[in-house]
Amino acid sequence: MHSAEQDVSLMKKVARDYAFYRSLFKDTEKPFAYVDLDLFDANANALKGRAGDKKIRIASKSVRCPSLIKRLLDSDSQFQGIMSFHPDEAVYLSQQGFDDILMGYPICHPQKIRAMGMEIKRGKRLILMIDSPEHVALIDAIGQELNVTFPVCLDVDMSTRFPFLHFGVRRSGVTTPESALPIYYATKASTSVRLVGVMGYEAQIAGLADNVPGQGARNWLIRKLKARSVKDVAERRANIIKTLEEQGAELELVNGGGTGSLESTIKEAVVTEVTVGSGFYSSALFDDYLAFKHQPAAGFAIEVVRQPTQNIYTCLGGGYIASGQTGTDKQPKPYLPHGLSLSQSEGTGEVQTPITYTGAEALEFGAPIFFRHSKAGELCERFNHVHLIKDDKLAGITSTYRGEGQCFL
Ligand SMILES: Cc1ncc(COP(=O)(O)O)c(C=O)c1O
Repeated sequence: MHSAEQDVSLMKKVARDYAFYRSLFKDTEKPFAYVDLDLFDANANALKGRAGDKKIRIASKSVRCPSLIKRLLDSDSQFQGIMSFHPDEAVYLSQQGFDDILMGYPICHPQKIRAMGMEIKRGKRLILMIDSPEHVALIDAIGQELNVTFPVCLDVDMSTRFPFLHFGVRRSGVTTPESALPIYYATKASTSVRLVGVMGYEAQIAGLADNVPGQGARNWLIRKLKARSVKDVAERRANIIKTLEEQGAELELVNGGGTGSLESTIKEAVVTEVTVGSGFYSSALFDDYLAFKHQPAAGFAIEVVRQPTQNIYTCLGGGYIASGQTGTDKQPKPYLPHGLSLSQSEGTGEVQTPITYTGAEALEFGAPIFFRHSKAGELCERFNHVHLIKDDKLAGITSTYRGEGQCFL
């Protein structure tokens, strides 16, 4: 647990309860989204502690507000660089003055590779992701055309195969030193591609909650699988790095992990930096991990517009469903006042969200109901700006990508 620091800083603050947020936002038109910077900063501090002596690359997809990415980068040199989720985003951020941008996923569109190449040509550090010789060939051809050398990072698969279970995500096909080498050799043989890094994202450790209330048996199983997988991941990453370096690769970065895996990822000596995104807002899917607890720094409010029965209040809007395997955990999570529950048959709806509430707060028409998004950054695709709270007070607004007219699809 690394919440002690947070607890200390929070003790000085006003309690984050319904009355607090309600009175703060009494004049704010609903729906609205907010980021509570007092909690965001506490999360950033706690994440720095959890990352130990590793640098932290910010997963921009889980923030999606340029000013907040900048806030993190400016706050401490432990935050270094961005992991971008889209080539247009990488170019946009570069043109906004950000630098050291690792494109987290391979791209195959020549025009987008070209646009990134133009940024590199003017001296910016943008790194493309690869996991096959075809990626190298595609990038090399554009590099020759632009007369620019592309730095690239090799994505290695960090999933663990159990006899009846693929534990992890399906991304890269590079699972062994033998499968990594031909790609490295392809970069060596190229004119315009240089391998500078290796990334492995152990999603099954970083993104899978293992302390979900009421799911004791599942939690136990997931923790066992994670423990086995942690070993497997560490061995595989070390072997691949060793082999590449023995063959002459000069790696400038070895990236691993995500919010949920910092404790294990930082134990790997070969890892130079960890990626963190979701932990800054600490969205609902990150509530139930055994190893850490961050603060609910981002949320949104919708308003009660009718009351079909005594305990049911129906709100306008709210159906901001998160991506991924569909399930009720991808719905926004009712947050404040405490004691709200969603209708099982309706969930959070496109235009109407009924909630059951039997608590003591008066929820008259127009009253705000606070929710937290299941995923961190996707909340920002619904709003042009987020309201900020600093030192327990409203502190203005800041634009999301959407508010800046950007939609990275
Ligand atoms: C390649 C990669 N690295 C790291 C992360 C971790 O990000 P977060 O901290 O938001 O879970 C992700 C998230 O999906 C990812 O795709």
